[in-house]
Formats: sequence, C-alpha cells, structure tokens
Amino acid sequence: MSSSYNIAIVGATGLVGQEFIKVLEQRKFPVKSIRLYASDRSAGKKLFVGHRELAVEETSNDSFKGIDIALFSAGAEISRRFSPIAAKAGALVIDNSAAFRMEPWVPLVVPEVNPEDIKLHKGIIANPNCSAIQMVVALNPLHKINPIKRIIVSTYQAVSGTGSAAMEELTTQSKAVLEGQSVVPHVYPHQIAFNLLPEIDVFLDSGYTKEEWKMVEETKKIMHAPQILVSATCVRVPVFISHSEAVNIDFTNPMSPDEARKILSRSPGVKVLDDPHVSLYPQPWLSKGSDETYVGRIRADASNPNGLVMWVVADNLRKGAALNAVQIAEEAARRNWVKIQG
Ligand SMILES: NC(=O)c1ccc[n+]([C@@H]2O[C@H](COP(=O)([O-])OP(=O)(O)OC[C@H]3O[C@@H](n4cnc5c(N)ncnc54)[C@H](OP(=O)(O)O)[C@@H]3O)[C@@H](O)[C@H]2O)c1
Repeated sequence: MSSSYNIAIVGATGLVGQEFIKVLEQRKFPVKSIRLYASDRSAGKKLFVGHRELAVEETSNDSFKGIDIALFSAGAEISRRFSPIAAKAGALVIDNSAAFRMEPWVPLVVPEVNPEDIKLHKGIIANPNCSAIQMVVALNPLHKINPIKRIIVSTYQAVSGTGSAAMEELTTQSKAVLEGQSVVPHVYPHQIAFNLLPEIDVFLDSGYTKEEWKMVEETKKIMHAPQILVSATCVRVPVFISHSEAVNIDFTNPMSPDEARKILSRSPGVKVLDDPHVSLYPQPWLSKGSDETYVGRIRADASNPNGLVMWVVADNLRKGAALNAVQIAEEAARRNWVKIQG
C-alpha cells in the first residue's frame, strides 16, 4: 500500500465503530485523515483516535466529499440511506449492516475466502454476518480439499453482537439477579442474564430466525457454493464478547480429524487449539481481543462416516465486524482497487 486514505467512520460511537478506530491504528492502516460520524445525539462528542481527540459529527449527505473509504456500522437503515450517497461521492463503502449483503451486485467478502470478489465492487462491499464470517474462515480450507455437502450449526452468540445497549443490559441484569432484585428486559424480549435466548433477529414464516437465514444464504454466497445445504440455530448467550459455534460438517468423502487439524493449522486466520487431554479448546473469554478464528474439539461425527464436528470461536467485534472490514480495505488498497479522491 503506497498511498494513504481519507477515511470516514459512520457509527463511530458504537461498539463496532470504536473497534474500527482501534483496528486501523493497530494494523497501521495508512490513514491520511479520519472523520467520525454518528447521530445528532453524539455531534460534538470527542473521541480519541490514537493520541488525538476528534469531534464526532452528525452524518449528513455532505459527509463524504473527499472520502476514499467509508466504513459503515450504524445499522441497516443508515446504510441504506447514506451508503449510496458515499459511493456516489467516490468513496469505497464497506458496510457492516445487512442492508446490501444479498444484493447480487454487492460483493460479500471474507478476505481469507473470496478476496477476488472485491474487484467486482460498484462502490459498496458488504461485510458478512459475524457468525457467518468465523464459520467460513474455518470451513473453506476444508471445503477446498473435500467439498462440503451439508452444514448443521448451533451458535452461542455474545450480547456485544446487539450493540452497546445490550452490553449494559447484561451488566445491569447480572447485578440485579445476584442482589435478588427483579429484572425488566429492554433490549431483548426476555432476561439475558443467567439465561439463553434462541431468538436472534426476527422470526420468519419458516420458523427460522433472520439471523439463522443469514448464515444459510451468506455462507453460500461467500464460498461460491450454492449447493451446500445449511441449517442453523442461533442462540444469544450471557457472554459479553466472542461468538462460539458447534458445527457438524458432512463432506463428500471421509476426512480424519488429524487431516482437518493439519489443513486448518496452515490456513490463514485460523488457530487450532485442540488437546482434550489438557482441556485445551477455544473459549470466548480467551479469544476476546484477538484476530484469529479458533478451532478445536475436532472429532469424527459418530453418526456419519463422512462427517466431522468442531467448535469454532472468534471475537465478533473484530473478525466478525471491524477487523474483517479493515482487512477488506487493506486488500482493496493493496490491489489499487480504491479510487483516491485527491
Ligand atoms: N456488534 C457486532 O458484533 C456487529 C457485527 C457485525 C455487524 N454489526 C453491525 O454494525 C452496526 C452497529 O453495531 P454496534 O454493535 O456498533 O451498535 P451500537 O453499539 O449500538 O452503535 C450504533 C452506532 O450507530 C450510530 N447511529 C444510530 N443511529 C444513527 C443515525 N440516525 N445516524 C448516524 N448514526 C447513527 C450510533 O450513534 P449514536 O451514538 O449517536 O447513537 C452508534 O455509533 C449494526 O448494523 C450491526 O448489525 C455489528
């Protein structure tokens, strides 16, 4: 990357927006200037970018003049409203919301899996759903060697996936429960502290939730594999950061756990943590703040000669959101697929 870029972050005050700022800095992304945007509620609020304090501005139609890369994480409605304006102004938009993910003209990218799709962009690139990202990072290397026919996945998703209000809700409710007080849910339909909620996003007529359906559709689009059958059950758990997944994979041919471990050990973005004798396996608490997708508990599926079962954990705010988006920006910049506005 020889150039440096004018960056806009929309949703800068949110959990993902804050992580964008951190990841850009940690990865030394070549930033020429940075503009922080959020709602009118946050206008004027100061945020640290490195050692500098920058004021947050209200997002408007004029926010994107001279911007080379716009990172969006302010929800689907804001993305639908402002992403096309940003793209028209010449910025490369990398959007964290679900607004454009399944649009045929919008690449849906996980750089370890389908980096070449970036060049098909027409101004907007979508960052996939957090649970789909970590699953494809772990499964694509295996699929390339032994095509996957079917995936059955159950997720255990942290409350940070719902945003900062949900983090606060888990803290407040946990204290209330421990002090013997009653709990009134606001963010979720039921108490989340000391509980599990098999409801993420809205229910569809099929009985699946929209989150479960995103895992089905997005996995096929990212992996260019419309033939893979996927069924998901997505569960919100009282964990602050990092999503976990139990994944059952049905391959075309048998694959031993050792072969899978070998393949995954040399796969980009993956770290194998798998030694049951010493209770070594991925855990959300330990993966928080790190960039890898952790895989463990790799074992033969006792119910299927062509099957493997594994446990996959990643930080949903980093690989599931900000890190993946910045990696897309890095890849686009490295290949000169970002227009510099001057
Ligand atoms: N959390 C995750 O793991 C994750 C993963 C992948 C994708 N995402 C997606 O990223 C987005 C944000 O998630 P989050 O976790 O960062 O949520 P969050 O902590 O609730 O933050 C929401 C952000 O959106 C901004 N916003 C709200 N209304 C706005 C408006 N009218 N105009 C401009 N900005 C507005 C907020 O600004 P104010 O502070 O001014 O209200 C805040 O910066 C969502 O689309 C989410 O689906 C999240």
